[in-house]
Amino acid sequence: MTDRYAVIGNPIAHSKSPLIHAAFARQTGQDVSYEAILAPLEDFAATVSAFRAAGGRGANVTVPFKLEALALADKPTERARLAGAANTLRFDADGIFADNTDGIGLVRDLEERLGVHLAGRRVLILGAGGAARGVIPALLERSPALLAVANRSVEKACELRERFASYGRIEAGGFDAFAGGAFDVVINATSAGLGGAQLPLPQGLFAPDALAYDMVYGPSETPFMIQARGLGASCVADGLGMLVEQAAESFFLWRGVRPETAPVLAMLRDG
Ligand code: ATR
Repeated sequence: MTDRYAVIGNPIAHSKSPLIHAAFARQTGQDVSYEAILAPLEDFAATVSAFRAAGGRGANVTVPFKLEALALADKPTERARLAGAANTLRFDADGIFADNTDGIGLVRDLEERLGVHLAGRRVLILGAGGAARGVIPALLERSPALLAVANRSVEKACELRERFASYGRIEAGGFDAFAGGAFDVVINATSAGLGGAQLPLPQGLFAPDALAYDMVYGPSETPFMIQARGLGASCVADGLGMLVEQAAESFFLWRGVRPETAPVLAMLRDG
């Protein structure tokens, strides 16, 4: 019988996850279906229960329910607890398993596809909301020389520094605090570009050969990618690769099979 999976969010209509998981299923020969479910804002837990009762085997969870997804878990992984959020649920006989694959998705895209290894490098993350917090544990696991967090509201960056201080070298401040910082990798985890706003990026942020990575993606270069290149970043990338990688890790957690990501990313790029 076909095993059912879904992505649950609000809004959800534009999610690419059903397309990605359908491609993974074809490629690996797994008998699974994957649908998009719109959950009412106050009814996430009930939506999950109904899907589970209808035979659902697991789900991805997206904005704005990742914190609630972690709260539903009987068996959260360490990285999900550290991130304070879950994007992957698996309905096991002994309860709900929850993980966060966003961070490992970002790291795989950086290291395996883009060839940028984080160990010993200077890494800057822009933003201190849920998107940043979700990926910081995986970034610190790679032992960068420094992980800096820059945020418009400095106190939120400082909160993240306190949360993760025992896991690696982490600094926090406003955007200006990192002028001249010469980072090897600068990751945009703010939502500024979505509203068309430019980030107040100071001079000297990028080392020679720096990569600017936007966790957001779009049909063409994002505002952050364009801005970063103008400030001297030699490589720029959007977050479509991360989206495919986090999906592959979820698929692996559900099915025990790791799909190839490159052909699926190419399919999405070709539209
Ligand atoms: P998400 O879950 O996507 O991270 P969030 O928790 O609302 O969403 O966080 C949004 C992030 O984008 C925050 O770091 C926010 O900065 P503040 O904490 O100072 O609000 C950042 N952000 C949004 N719009 C921005 C803008 N125009 N300039 C700079 N930072 C912005």
